[in-house]
Amino acid sequence: MTNQEIFKRDIDSIITSIEKEAVNFSGKTILMSGGAGFLGNYIISALLRLNDSLLKTNPCKVIAMDNFITGSSLSENLTKNPNFQFIEHDVRKPLPEDLNADFLIHAAGLASPYYYRKFPLETIEVAVNGTKNFLEFAKNKKVQSLLYFSSSEIYGDPEPRFIPTPETYWGNVSAIGPRACYDESKRLGETLCMTYYQLYKVPVKIVRPFNVYGPGMKANDYRVIPTFMVKAIKEEPLPVHDRGNQTRTFCYITDATQGFLKVLASNKNGEVYNVGKNEEEINMMSLAAIISNLANNKAQAQLIAYPESYPAGEPQRRCPDLTKIKKELSYNPSIDLKTGLARTLAWYKNLINQQNES
Ligand SMILES: NC(=O)c1ccc[n+]([C@@H]2O[C@H](COP(=O)([O-])OP(=O)(O)OC[C@H]3O[C@@H](n4cnc5c(N)ncnc54)[C@H](O)[C@@H]3O)[C@@H](O)[C@H]2O)c1
Repeated sequence: MTNQEIFKRDIDSIITSIEKEAVNFSGKTILMSGGAGFLGNYIISALLRLNDSLLKTNPCKVIAMDNFITGSSLSENLTKNPNFQFIEHDVRKPLPEDLNADFLIHAAGLASPYYYRKFPLETIEVAVNGTKNFLEFAKNKKVQSLLYFSSSEIYGDPEPRFIPTPETYWGNVSAIGPRACYDESKRLGETLCMTYYQLYKVPVKIVRPFNVYGPGMKANDYRVIPTFMVKAIKEEPLPVHDRGNQTRTFCYITDATQGFLKVLASNKNGEVYNVGKNEEEINMMSLAAIISNLANNKAQAQLIAYPESYPAGEPQRRCPDLTKIKKELSYNPSIDLKTGLARTLAWYKNLINQQNES
């Protein structure tokens, strides 16, 4: 399968999973920050694909914003779409006055620990000033819904009795540690959202994604899956931080996008939802072994100390309690880890082959 075919199959499966919610976007304009990022590409492509089927008679429009601090160039599929508009804009500055939108998605952020260590002030400002700019816009333009991308990192390093972690858990986070620029600014972003909801009835929703992965995440994103996959394809040892016993639950991008769009379409305001997968919690040594196996890589995983470029103090375990989103919004993630990893690996193999050929 080519990368375009892998992507198309993924988008088609997202469309099927949000058939019920699609009507909410009929004839509407959705404005999204972080549109040139990994999640942005899937979310925007899914919304625009609705126009080919369920929203044929009354299509939606998408306006994406990004300043490309980590984002990639946009695909031609998007830039050639008549219902798509891109604005290069740093959302730390107020949004352009002349814009109008019905739905807002604020997903701009420095999501990879490598990049938020490199750009700590930008990380804080996009989560705080960027969120405030979106909230002001939402208040003034009276939008229908505003979705803020927080993070599972706001939980910090939960005690074992709070695993799986429900939305009601308050968190165990350092205000001054190496990860604080991300964790604490995402927390303040949430506080701003709830404050605008309480003071001005801005129709906010907050999602806390848990380790989303899949095709399209940049090969040099430095999050664990692209790092392991690129090394495995090159038949090199996979670098595992510390003792390799830290665990995560990984959520394939199609499942996560289903969750995000269900929350965006919902009329429940002032709510926060975990989005992820609550099965197959896995430690990093085992993840390295599975990826090496899938790629037929004979090189062993290699335990290494945290490099200077990576913020230490990472949570030991990460696993969401998904009771709320499943019950209230019928969220139904379905892709198991091996299937998702195999699809993602196929995508990185194609990418690396293309790079080698050019
Ligand atoms: N992918 C995950 O597993 C995950 C987990 C938890 C939270 N999140 C959050 O979801 C959002 C999207 O994550 P992603 O994985 O797509 O990350 P990504 O890095 O691929 O995309 C983020 C995008 O935001 C853009 N951006 C950053 N600062 C900006 C600014 N000031 N103005 C305009 N654009 C700016 C970047 O250029 C990039 O294109 C982020 O806010 C992230 O913190 C993601």
